[in-house]
Amino acid sequence: MVEATNLKVNYLDSPLGIEEIFQIGWQMRSEKRNVRQKSYRLQIAESDFASPIYDSGEVESCESVHITAPENLPLRSVCAYRIRVRLTTEDGGETLWHESRFTTALLNNSEWRAEFITIETEMDKGDARSSYLKKTMNIAAPIKSAYLLSTALGVYHVYVNGQKAGEDQMAPGWTSYNKHLLYQIYDVKDLLNPGENTLCGLVNAGWYKGKMGFVGMKNHYGTRAAFGCELHLEYEGGERAVIKTDGTWQGAWGPSDFSDIYDGETYDARLENPKEWQAVERVVFDKSVLAAQAGCKARVHERFPVKEIITTPEGDTVLDFGQNLTGWVEFRVQGNRGDEARLQCFEVLDGAGNVYLDNLRSAKQTLTYICKDDAPAMYHPYFTFQGFRYVKLINWPGEILAKNFTACAVYSDMPKTGSFTCSNPLLNQLQSNIHWGMKGNFLDIPTDCPQRDERLGWTGDAQIFCRTASFLRDTYTFFRKWLRDLAFDQTGEGGVPHVVPDILIGKSSADRLMKDGDHGAAAWGDASIIVPWTMYLVYGDENILERQYDSMKAWIGFMRAHAVDYIWNYKLQFGDWVALDAEAGSYFGATPNDLTCTAYYAYSTGIFANIAAILGRDEDAAEFGKLYEQIVASYQKHFFDDSGHLNVQTQTAQIVTLHFGLAPESYRKNVANDLTKLLKKENGHLVTGFVGTPYFCFALSENGHTKEAYELLLKEDYPSWLYQVKAGATTIWEHWDGIKPDGTMWSADMNSFNHYAYGAVGDWLYRVAAGIDTSEDGPGYRHILLAPHIGGGLTELDAALESNYGTIRSHWRVDGGVVTLEVEVPCNASATISLPGADEILDGDGLAFEGFAARTGSGRYSIRYRM
Ligand code: BGC
Repeated sequence: MVEATNLKVNYLDSPLGIEEIFQIGWQMRSEKRNVRQKSYRLQIAESDFASPIYDSGEVESCESVHITAPENLPLRSVCAYRIRVRLTTEDGGETLWHESRFTTALLNNSEWRAEFITIETEMDKGDARSSYLKKTMNIAAPIKSAYLLSTALGVYHVYVNGQKAGEDQMAPGWTSYNKHLLYQIYDVKDLLNPGENTLCGLVNAGWYKGKMGFVGMKNHYGTRAAFGCELHLEYEGGERAVIKTDGTWQGAWGPSDFSDIYDGETYDARLENPKEWQAVERVVFDKSVLAAQAGCKARVHERFPVKEIITTPEGDTVLDFGQNLTGWVEFRVQGNRGDEARLQCFEVLDGAGNVYLDNLRSAKQTLTYICKDDAPAMYHPYFTFQGFRYVKLINWPGEILAKNFTACAVYSDMPKTGSFTCSNPLLNQLQSNIHWGMKGNFLDIPTDCPQRDERLGWTGDAQIFCRTASFLRDTYTFFRKWLRDLAFDQTGEGGVPHVVPDILIGKSSADRLMKDGDHGAAAWGDASIIVPWTMYLVYGDENILERQYDSMKAWIGFMRAHAVDYIWNYKLQFGDWVALDAEAGSYFGATPNDLTCTAYYAYSTGIFANIAAILGRDEDAAEFGKLYEQIVASYQKHFFDDSGHLNVQTQTAQIVTLHFGLAPESYRKNVANDLTKLLKKENGHLVTGFVGTPYFCFALSENGHTKEAYELLLKEDYPSWLYQVKAGATTIWEHWDGIKPDGTMWSADMNSFNHYAYGAVGDWLYRVAAGIDTSEDGPGYRHILLAPHIGGGLTELDAALESNYGTIRSHWRVDGGVVTLEVEVPCNASATISLPGADEILDGDGLAFEGFAARTGSGRYSIRYRM
């Protein structure tokens, strides 16, 4: 029995807000082995498949993931469609129809009719007060469908008859607003009544005009928060109507009196249900920059009860939720009119067990709720989020009861794709910490940290963690959106900003916040190449490569323009950021910038030449292929001495040289030996920063040192991944020495306890320890490489990945030198299973092994071998 499942459009399940279809894909499920698709038939219909708008007919093709819709598909704006697929397989199987749906957005921005409206004036430019914008209207006839398209210059919620439309939080998210503003679409049919209805937006400053960046600048994108929406109605009789924001709406100040991304929110419930309404003003905004957001919106996910109520030595009452997370605390409060509940969110207790706020820098993360009467009320912030595990109760009316508080994790809605457990509980906790590092920093954009006065889309951090993230969750839509902003914010010369959306540049180039260079750093700017490339590897998607092509090419051009003899370096560089081999008190690791910059210049250029070849841009492929060779030659000339060793003897220099393939073949062994020597010198510990750490284990295991890679991974004393775990971390720290063995902390200046970068080791756990990888020739796990590396004293490991083809699993158990390996390959994919370290195959489960490798199609296999 074979089944068609998971029919998606643009990699999304039943998306609402499709502007163009660039991908259709599905999966097959079968208990049989070697199942491959022979043909498919795909149909799209508005209501009835008897009269489809598209019927592919029977298409002989094994393609099941990257189907593109025909260009002239007669889609209508804001309309729901049904889509279905039926398949046959090479072994004579046939599926039933499998159906899904999608809803279009406006197919052309010129159709957007709503005006942006506000009650704010220039006088309010420094404020962050919420305002309501509402309209009451009459709906006379029965409705067939009702879709609300809404967005804001600011952060907003929208209500239909007092009920929130959708579950999105922090909408419309953060983009480079003046170049790219997202709108959301909600199906609101069930919220409307016959007769009188009220539409109401609630808007506040958010990222748009609120304080952002470490110098506390406001109004990055504009001075007035505004709201815009249009309600698209279709009546039973077939007529259509659009109700939109315009000068006839009314506005009033709302209860969130003050709301700031860093500082928190003050909510005065006495301002709910305002009596006095005023006229609104229109705000001019370029509608051509609008884009519909069809998925991956921020939502509330996990909810944590209070684990413990603590009284600190200094006498503070503190709630401990047991997990460092990003989101907010929701609470039930009861007091008298005017009573205040005030809470402050923070990440860690200090060595003495007291509230530690210093690492928040200027961010106040404080919530104040003012009661309107003596009835119990529920509250959580509307326009901000906090990074915290603990909450200090500064002021609380009434008795403090644990049941009245819940910590809510808020992050972008990305389906979970990975799972990993093994026989070492510390490693399992590390996995959990890596995952929470991701959840905490994937709230609409990839941020460095969620708690201090930063929370910016640092490109380097995103690049380093992107592949790991793409094991844990489906990141395609998330990064596709962010990469748009990266391209929009590139400098004319192709420089990539350090943060995306770029607010370091200020409002004009004369207004730069980082005067010594706000763009163009190695490993940071390379996000422009490595992130799209990772999306291609993980999802097999060429569309993103096409879409980002000019951006990528411009970045290589930027490096090229600033290189001398192919050695690249430019203004402000972060180098091997926060490495432990930095001089005392410095953030800059010991590996020289010339080396890290040029290593990345080579790495990115090599990838780009490859991309050009994949897209059939042969001239570019040849040109950049040649450039790559010239950079590598120059790298070898500059950084190798005559005896075949690098003239920079740091861990990171050896790591990037090895992992980026920059050593002449004959010197490779030297570099790998030097790396193990440097490791021994530190007693088996790493001293690497952002550049070296992600690839450390790879550099070892790719060069015959898997044992050392496991030893490094499993070190439990300072500095190491598991040192943090043993110190009680529930997320990944920014610094190896965030909390030192003596309980003291790294400078408060920059000490985040929720920074995903070092969680990039997750990539090695999946790709090497579990051994789940994709072949570059069959990207997107069309051809899977299964090569688990047994080691580290682990007796069992189980990992799985939900790929576009379905579940890939690797499960190994070791008993007395005999390994039982169970693997799963999804239908329509193939795999090469190899057994590194194997001595003898005891049971190959029918697979045709040549040596210790076998090629196979889909199915479950159980292999036994001796090590
Ligand atoms: C951030 C980092 C970032 C770095 C750049 C920091 O403040 O938190 O993660 O990449 O600056 O140097």
